[in-house]
Amino acid sequence: MRNLDEQTITQAVLARNAGTEDRRLHEIMTSLVQHLHAFARETQLTEQEWEKGIEFLTAVGQICTPTRQEFILLSDTLGLSTLVTAQNHKKPAGCTEATVFGPFHVADAPQFDLGANISSGLPGTPWFVKGKVQSADGAPIPHAKIEVWQADDAGFYDVQKPGLEAHHGRAILQANAEGHYQFRTIVPDCYPIPHDGPVGKMLETLNRHPWRPAHLHFMITAPGFQRLVTHVFREGGDYLDSDAVFGVRSSLIAEWVSHESGLDPYGNQIDSQYYTLEFDFILHHA
Ligand code: BEZ
Ligand code: FE
Repeated sequence: MRNLDEQTITQAVLARNAGTEDRRLHEIMTSLVQHLHAFARETQLTEQEWEKGIEFLTAVGQICTPTRQEFILLSDTLGLSTLVTAQNHKKPAGCTEATVFGPFHVADAPQFDLGANISSGLPGTPWFVKGKVQSADGAPIPHAKIEVWQADDAGFYDVQKPGLEAHHGRAILQANAEGHYQFRTIVPDCYPIPHDGPVGKMLETLNRHPWRPAHLHFMITAPGFQRLVTHVFREGGDYLDSDAVFGVRSSLIAEWVSHESGLDPYGNQIDSQYYTLEFDFILHHA
């Protein structure tokens, strides 16, 4: 193939890819090439602009480390994560809605017994969280695996802190035979997504803020049910209507109830203000 031009280049690339054995990969690559070329045509992209684009994507890759995932931030801030989540989790009304995964989950979080303090020594306002895991017909789902992760009260995840020796603010728990779970932690604050890199610069250039509303992450898995990746947001909190990563869903906003000092939910004296949250998760059958 020679002398390719504006009109013929797209077909030439598609023809070159025609031997892809994986049918799904072929479909995805065909669509990607068509849309990329359409984008360049529609915007009449200049060479200088595409150089800038390549520079940006290079910087996104270069800042990535095992604990810094700039491509997830890019996908999240462009709304692509929310789009992919939404089109893959069309569930019947009543099932708990999914939202963005984010870049701060780790696979090797510490395991805790139900009721444990999962903050692992983080300072902050005590928070007692409990609820049930059940199916849409109201039946409890016994022994579901519940992964929880959160920022501290200054808005940072443990993996963002230099010299991390042990995890804090994250846990793997198992619901009991009746589907109940509970744990103690501290109240997380809203926080800006990491914005000291190319995605932060992009947001600034687009006149956008990097903030997320306060939330607690959950990933819940149980045999026979679809994996649920979601958050619980704080009712009345800041940024619920301008989340930098478009993750808020009304059904995931709950009251984080404030209490004065007294007896905590476990019957122990507590001398400071504390919060409680009760949130049930409804999983959809696989
Ligand atoms: C998070 O909630 O942890 C998160 C989600 C998307 C981008 C950055 C952080
Ligand atoms: Fe988060």
